[in-house]
Amino acid sequence: MKFDRRNFIRAASVLSALSLNEIGSLAAKQQIKTDGKTIADDDEAYWQNVRQMFPLTKDWTYLNNGTFGPSPYPVIEAVKNGMLDADQMGNYGSYDATIPKIAKFVGANDDEIALTHNVTEGINTVCWGVPLQKGDEVILTTHEHIGNMAPWMNRVKVHGIVIRKYTPASTAAETLNRIAALINKKTRAIATPHIPCTQGQVLPVKEICKLAKDKGLFALIDGAHGSGMMPLDLHNMGCDTYASCCHKWMLGPKGTGYLYVRKDFQDTLQAFYSGGGTQDEKWNLMTDPVTIGNYAPSAHRYFGGTQANGLFTGVNASIDFIETIGLQNIHNRIKSLGKYTQDRLLEMGDKVTLITPTEEQSRCAVNGFTIKGVDYKKFYDTCVDNKIRIRMVPENGINCLRVSTHIYNNKAEVDKLMDLIKKAV
Ligand SMILES: Cc1ncc(COP(=O)(O)O)c(C=O)c1O
Repeated sequence: MKFDRRNFIRAASVLSALSLNEIGSLAAKQQIKTDGKTIADDDEAYWQNVRQMFPLTKDWTYLNNGTFGPSPYPVIEAVKNGMLDADQMGNYGSYDATIPKIAKFVGANDDEIALTHNVTEGINTVCWGVPLQKGDEVILTTHEHIGNMAPWMNRVKVHGIVIRKYTPASTAAETLNRIAALINKKTRAIATPHIPCTQGQVLPVKEICKLAKDKGLFALIDGAHGSGMMPLDLHNMGCDTYASCCHKWMLGPKGTGYLYVRKDFQDTLQAFYSGGGTQDEKWNLMTDPVTIGNYAPSAHRYFGGTQANGLFTGVNASIDFIETIGLQNIHNRIKSLGKYTQDRLLEMGDKVTLITPTEEQSRCAVNGFTIKGVDYKKFYDTCVDNKIRIRMVPENGINCLRVSTHIYNNKAEVDKLMDLIKKAV
């Protein structure tokens, strides 16, 4: 950029605006501590303080947390400090604190968590490591994100497995029936999302895992949207694997994730990725490549090498941030904003079709809809022109629009989108 007076003044004003926001966030930090108390989902003064913690610009209305969650200031600061630790002092860094923190956050043991960069990486580790042969069947949905579609399609291409798909129904009970109807003697795994990216339906994942166990199948969950959207207890859920990320509902740094692999499943899920940390001490790496020891006695067998110390320090801070507010408080707030969104969409009668179920257990913070007679891509462009970020859903020809709300949003922002929809119809 040319260094002239105007650019200098612009840069200086951006810097001063940022520090003002940061000052505001420091004040808000004291106000958002709940010390374990319940906060009403409509306590707007409280949630306004939470909003202060985010550098999100007020010029744009961000209703697209399903793609990524913007981080609050303490996370950004932690990333910087994590990097400085290496870059100033030459510390190699450690993620020792991150694994137990994630494990506790999701109801797992420390030795069941592998660090990843994103959901896609976790799903690939699962998809390629699970023992399948030509003709074996895996059940997915018709609502897959490419991250849980491409790896399985690749196994179709390379190993000749077969994909069967179900379409989520408007009730959890009917969804379960549809999955059960696909199971036959060739079925080996149910590899379903917990919450599909398309319209955010919360699938009955515990019951799906039970069905899988009863039928002797692997339960391999795409948990992209579970972590941070709701309290998780992966042991209680009963899945074999859960691939998730810290960059959506956990509001952590982009490019961070984790893969849960149930302890008893680790000797079934073959590790293919090897390097520093993936093996136990019996491997004689320096002098005797013939002596082959065992894999690390934990999910560490699935990841190795240098990790992004700054980013994982940010993950620690994002869990601290969530716990300062309380995950249950967050869940209640975003579920009620999701319900508000549904109600406003339903008010528009037959002009708008809500494609997310209204059933209590099947809805949360993400909703999909179509507008009668309005091309979804055109409406998406209208949103961008009006500085509103939502997502188009071209997946599987669903061709809908998706709105997802997190704790930095409020009803007025949802109303802004609704006004635009009203104009469009
Ligand atoms: C349901 C689902 N699965 C997988 C992914 C891929 O996630 P990532 O980009 O972290 O790999 C996404 C991303 O939006 C998603 O929504």
